[in-house]
Amino acid sequence: MSENASIKLNDRNLEFPVIVGSEGEKAIDLRTLRSDSGGCITFDEGYGNTGSCVSNVTFIDGDAGILRYRGYPIEQLAQHSSFVETAYLVIHGELPTVEQYAAFSARLREQAGIHERMLHLFEGYPRDAHPMAILSAMVNSLACYDPHLATNDHNRDLENFEEASAIALSKVRTIAAVAYRMSRGLPVNYSNKDLKYCENFLHMMFSDPFSPYTASPEVARAMNLILLLHADHEQNCSTSTVRMVASSGANLFASTSAGISALWGPLHGGANVAVIGMLRSIHEQGDDGSRFIEAAKSGKARLMGFGHRVYKNFDPRAKIIAQGCEELLDSLGLTDPLLDIARRLAEAALDDPYFLERKLYPNVDFYSGIMMRAIGIPLNMFTVMFAIGRMPGWIANWHEVAADQNSRIYRPRQIYQGPVKREYVSIKERT
Ligand SMILES: CC(C)(COP(=O)(O)OP(=O)(O)OC[C@H]1O[C@@H](n2cnc3c(N)ncnc32)[C@H](O)[C@@H]1OP(=O)(O)O)[C@@H](O)C(=O)NCCC(=O)NCCS
Repeated sequence: MSENASIKLNDRNLEFPVIVGSEGEKAIDLRTLRSDSGGCITFDEGYGNTGSCVSNVTFIDGDAGILRYRGYPIEQLAQHSSFVETAYLVIHGELPTVEQYAAFSARLREQAGIHERMLHLFEGYPRDAHPMAILSAMVNSLACYDPHLATNDHNRDLENFEEASAIALSKVRTIAAVAYRMSRGLPVNYSNKDLKYCENFLHMMFSDPFSPYTASPEVARAMNLILLLHADHEQNCSTSTVRMVASSGANLFASTSAGISALWGPLHGGANVAVIGMLRSIHEQGDDGSRFIEAAKSGKARLMGFGHRVYKNFDPRAKIIAQGCEELLDSLGLTDPLLDIARRLAEAALDDPYFLERKLYPNVDFYSGIMMRAIGIPLNMFTVMFAIGRMPGWIANWHEVAADQNSRIYRPRQIYQGPVKREYVSIKERT
């Protein structure tokens, strides 16, 4: 039986339907609130209670620590799948058959190179330019090199979706590697079509003339795991940004480029960098973590890599990556003092009422940085890795907006609390 919700506004009773998701989650459908109530809107700063869209891509139950892409539990994908296969699943909705996988993979290989003229764009950046700025600019610029795929007419752009999405997914990794090589003054490596997605990325990052880099199976597996665990995360800040931009009719490259900018901030994708900064400073100060925890509790510091807007029990990705991190370091015979500090911080915080009461647990960023350090990824590239991993989710969400014939431009409202109407005063008369 369908449910209704009512809001009593002064002496009027307003009825609204309750809509139910496929996992039983409920939402009061307030789309007619403003017209029914004579101008009243909802106020939900930070959108903690607001469903901004209907989506079929990812399901999260934050209280139970559940994350599923297209219905498949993240634990199963982490164990059995690869980044490319998971990307196919996220973008297309189903796991690929052998033929579909081969065709998808071939498209990615074909699209790995970037236009020679585009390489000149990188030269204009200062050497210490942040790779996230470069990545966002270059992904947007892809629209200029294939304008027929980026018409800003969703129906036309959807006709070329397979090609455009392969370009975005494949070239994002090439752009990342070129940005890194150029920032170091190193020669750019062309893509090697014989290599798989992650191996090819690592080759483009780390091969030197006369000294090709070959990723060990453990490193390739770790890279797949990092990217796969980031492939989508429903309506987070960057994905909502992608949808927001897409809702204006903008093409895939413009929309995902905006997602990259949103990801850059330290409260979102930039947290993996902030975690390492935090762990390093704890290490340098000879703190075992306890002083830092006290600072976090008194509000003087934030325990980066802890807490999540949605997960209030545990972040399932953090569990998987913590184990992956231990396995990688073991297999490479490495030790990392930062991992020891991270372990101590996690144990101490998980025992402390401040963190327990606020339901603050390690999130995926708490361990991903340590894993990336072990692979040799430099610190300023950490958020770039997150962006490469998140590209399938951004693509799938762009597609949902573009394919929805009833989609409207996203346009939230506000409560204005500025000055009321006043008269213009000429500059000479102002005091
Ligand atoms: C992720 C995050 C932005 C979620 O923010 P949010 O849902 O708005 O949560 P709030 O900022 O309202 O936090 C609720 C309470 O927990 C505290 N808190 C949240 N995260 C904290 C952290 N990482 N360290 C210490 N205290 C924290 C807040 O100070 C607040 O305490 P109060 O109730 O006494 O005021 C936040 O937890 C955070 O900044 N984490 C660190 C950055 C990070 O790892 N981001 C990556 C997310 S994948």
